[in-house]
Amino acid sequence: MASLTYTSFDDSILHHLSQQSWRRGMVNFFSESIPFSFSSSNEYADLVADMITLFSNHLNQSINIVEYGAGNGIFAKKCVEKLAEKDTRFHYLITENVPSLVSYFETLAVVKESNHIQAKLLDINDFKLDQPFHVGILTYLLDTCPVKILEFQTGDLYEWRVSVLVKEDATVSFVTNNTLVTWNKSEIETFLSQPIPDDQLPLLSRIHECFDISWKRFQCEASDIDATGILEEWFENHAYQENGVFTFSNAWWAIMDSLRHHVSDKFMFVLYDFASNRGNYYQSYLESFGQFGICYFYSVSFFLFKYYCSRNNLQFLSSDFSESDNQIGIITSVKNKVFQEELTQFFNQDEPGKHVYDYTLLIKQADSLDACLSSIRKSKGVLTLDQQSDYVYLFSIALKFFEFECYDQVIYYLDTILADYGVQSLNAVLLKSKALRKEGFLADALALVEAAIELTPHFDLLHLERAYIAKELNKWDILKTSLESYFETVLANPQWHLLDIIKQL
Ligand SMILES: C[S@@+](CC[C@H](N)C(=O)[O-])C[C@H]1O[C@@H](n2cnc3c(N)ncnc32)[C@H](O)[C@@H]1O
Repeated sequence: MASLTYTSFDDSILHHLSQQSWRRGMVNFFSESIPFSFSSSNEYADLVADMITLFSNHLNQSINIVEYGAGNGIFAKKCVEKLAEKDTRFHYLITENVPSLVSYFETLAVVKESNHIQAKLLDINDFKLDQPFHVGILTYLLDTCPVKILEFQTGDLYEWRVSVLVKEDATVSFVTNNTLVTWNKSEIETFLSQPIPDDQLPLLSRIHECFDISWKRFQCEASDIDATGILEEWFENHAYQENGVFTFSNAWWAIMDSLRHHVSDKFMFVLYDFASNRGNYYQSYLESFGQFGICYFYSVSFFLFKYYCSRNNLQFLSSDFSESDNQIGIITSVKNKVFQEELTQFFNQDEPGKHVYDYTLLIKQADSLDACLSSIRKSKGVLTLDQQSDYVYLFSIALKFFEFECYDQVIYYLDTILADYGVQSLNAVLLKSKALRKEGFLADALALVEAAIELTPHFDLLHLERAYIAKELNKWDILKTSLESYFETVLANPQWHLLDIIKQL
């Protein structure tokens, strides 16, 4: 058996693959089931637009806004709508480091039709801007930064390091030239040791199951981990009184320093992350990060940001949402106490997305059509219109109606999502196509799926859905090309048995 080599989490293959997975852009959100509904909801957009409006009123000027790691661009679209409703004057730059996402932003009506909203390809680790900005929006971006996992116990500091080995019996299969190829352990190791070409990115959705992962704790020194001295300063103040597990990333300070190079005198960063306000919030290293498929999320230690801010003469404010692993943090150069108190008021409410999440669960649990209708009625009586426009809420209702074979209702709710998110709402496209097929509208289903494929050609399930439509239409040429495209792009759970059908066509 190979000997175990433990590396820091930030240097591990797990973080490397997680980062690579984002290269897949929109597909990644759906293939790895990355939650985005609450962070790109009207509810959160309204909250941020209120904060920006407060800031703009305080400065009494138009505000330059940059959103980093904007993901599917939906938050930006909603935030600019909310700002316009509030008569706030602004310029908004939507940025991402994935080219396909930026190309998509450029197709959004808000970007095409207004000269104060623009899109730009930008890596937060290395960027230049033409203009200084006042407001930086970073939603679930800092929690993708590479971290070390640290534990402090009776005055000592430890690091949890990880060993990742490819299992002896691991295999990964894929199709090339209509032939099934299977890699074993040594070929998987070679694949992992080299840069991943674009056409092999789909394999990431299946590679995790090949790993044997183990963790071990090693003693360490705060000063070796953080050259700025922030970690050491915090450690000296806390380590003797408490025990706990937390994360640390050198990238946090590098990103903050770099953002500060591009700001106006008066600025504000709005952070929303999987984050903790205390060093002893977690007691086990496993709680300090989360995972969606191959994508990892690491807790952001907001309590260390307080130290960063006090060293740099900045203010740090944060929410303390109860029963939530997610918190909002504000970093600002504005010292005005009234402004800060008004900002803090925004945190005295429930976390955005919480209410709608509770009602979504209720709807998901409905075991009859009557129970489902009653839960929907109940939710509509309580939730605001912004909350009722939540993606997962609407999608869950559509899924329930599908279960109860009410296909017209399925289509009604999915059309609400499609009107908002367009055909980039990939699972809404798939479910609507299935409902259309059930109702016999095959041509409409085909048109819908083909429009989605044109925008997002690398989502395997769209090709599979097109194959099903083609089969019902008896269009064998479309069935063949759809299955070929399916196997070229296949992500999780490949349907290898369909390979035989290609051979028969
Ligand atoms: C968890 S998603 C959050 C997306 C969006 N802000 C949201 O809340 O739904 C993280 C996003 O950060 C982007 N990203 C990752 N590394 C980045 C980097 N170095 N610079 C800019 N964006 C990055 C990814 O492409 C991905 O869209």
